[in-house]
Amino acid sequence: MNKTNLTIMVEFILLGFSNLPKLEGLLFVLFLVIYMSILIGNGLIIVITKIDPSLHTPMYYFIGNFSFLEICYTSVTIPRLLTNLWSQRRNISFLACAVQLTSFLIMGATECFLLAVMAYDRYVAICRPLYYHVIMNHKTCIKLVVGSWISGIPLQIGQTYQIFSLPLCGSNKLNHIFCDIPPLLKLACGDTSVNEFSVYADVLILAMIPFLLILWSYSQIIGTILKLPSATGRSKAFSTCSSHLIVVGLFFGSAIITYMRPKSIHSAEADKVLSLFYTIVTPMFNPIIYSLRNKDIIVALKKLLPK
Ligand SMILES: *[C@@H]1O[C@H](CO)[C@@H](O)[C@H](O)[C@H]1NC(C)=O
Repeated sequence: MNKTNLTIMVEFILLGFSNLPKLEGLLFVLFLVIYMSILIGNGLIIVITKIDPSLHTPMYYFIGNFSFLEICYTSVTIPRLLTNLWSQRRNISFLACAVQLTSFLIMGATECFLLAVMAYDRYVAICRPLYYHVIMNHKTCIKLVVGSWISGIPLQIGQTYQIFSLPLCGSNKLNHIFCDIPPLLKLACGDTSVNEFSVYADVLILAMIPFLLILWSYSQIIGTILKLPSATGRSKAFSTCSSHLIVVGLFFGSAIITYMRPKSIHSAEADKVLSLFYTIVTPMFNPIIYSLRNKDIIVALKKLLPK
């Protein structure tokens, strides 16, 4: 009896996809392929934006750093998910779970901020072209990137601390694919409304504000594009904007639905599927949408690759 209690104290069981035992092999292969493509795609973008002098502009500096973020962000969740699927060892220590949650939340906030920075950069380039080099100077770019990486840290550490100081109610089974807030709150005892409220506040500050900023930037951009004289220029700019907005909408939409829903109407299976969008699907499509559809990157890639 004592021994079980002690186990409950020190580790969680991440159930992952154990409800689909027949599919686990297939899911392993699928996630492995996705993870490799995230590493290769984003790695290529980092290399290209660093070595090609024609890409030494603010936009590509942000895109390169964003790719670096995607690699870190997915490396917090996918490798663990892969070992979970491969070895059927589902236990994760209390500490590892807390570290996973904190890093995931910090980088999630960075993701929101960097997407907002990239939208703002496009806004300045398209709507304020004469001031672009003044506004987006070297120092500002570095400040914006460093700020994106660090500003989520205090709130997210506080968030994790709060969640992990809740008493657990007997079960240590997390019905999820990684340590995320909703499944952890489900295991907590008693009244968690204060925690739920602090999660709302957190998401409002770290996700809603950047999201609104992005929507504002793109609405300004679209307004400017509509005044363009040439129809082809307009449609090209539109297709770029719409693909950015789809990725942004998927990422923020799935995250906001997951974290802003009250605990009472959370379904573990729906949460697993939704979480795939903000942990895996958007990091996979981001590099493609933000850069591979981009002429300059294609040209730089061709220069890099031997004929
Ligand atoms: C991105 O920015 C962070 C924070 O400034 C930095 O630590 C990291 O090395 C940068 N990565 C790349 C690939 O530029």
